[in-house]
Amino acid sequence: MQVHVFENAAQVGQAAATLIAAQVLSKPDSVLGLATGSTPIPTYQELSRLCKAGVVDFSRVRSFNLDEYCNLPVDHEQSYHSFMKENLFDHINIDINNTRVPDGNAADPAKEAADYDAAIANAGGIDVQILGIGRNGHIGFNEPGDAFVYGCHIVNLTQSTIEANRRFFESEADVPRQAISLGVGSIINARKILLLATGADKAQAIRDSIYGDINPQTQASILRTHSDVIFLLDKAAASLL
Ligand code: F6R
Repeated sequence: MQVHVFENAAQVGQAAATLIAAQVLSKPDSVLGLATGSTPIPTYQELSRLCKAGVVDFSRVRSFNLDEYCNLPVDHEQSYHSFMKENLFDHINIDINNTRVPDGNAADPAKEAADYDAAIANAGGIDVQILGIGRNGHIGFNEPGDAFVYGCHIVNLTQSTIEANRRFFESEADVPRQAISLGVGSIINARKILLLATGADKAQAIRDSIYGDINPQTQASILRTHSDVIFLLDKAAASLL
């Protein structure tokens, strides 16, 4: 495991984008695992810039997102489908048909979850998985709990996550209560993992992930079992290390 600490969030984004660009340059049909949230936005801005500058070609890249809210229309401005278009897909030359975000409105959620894991396996697995981390140590929407859940599944969001996501909705009542998320098993099956964290509100979760027990109460702690994981942190997120 490697930990790199940068001065600020912009540098974290540049470092992550550099590693992703290198991946796509060395394997043009890479399979990328993508995250939403505030943290990867500088990374996506830098990747958009590198694509526009002709440095990175995403035309053969395939992508799978980590998660999506349940019971939120895909065209809702806070859906993760909308987020990905607005922050990345509309700015790079990826074929939208090669991108997939789980369907949070599937009539049969268990089937959607199983199909999603199967689609990743059929694509040959994820080459690079980008992760943010919740203040409670979640990765994807794998919330603190009694176990690590292996496969894609439906999650009941914790109050801490609902409060953290409140900023994107008009009121707390509007924040979806459920999501569909890759399991930690599918996440650690990725060949390389980049975990990005910025801001002091992530410092405790980062400390628990790196120094605490490997424990489902801090889901990100499982990443320590992976042989190629890089934590890219700003000073604030690294302040308790
Ligand atoms: C998003 C995701 C979440 C976020 C995490 C941090 O797809 O899976 O685990 O990465 O909640 O969110 P931000 O970056 O908004 O602090």
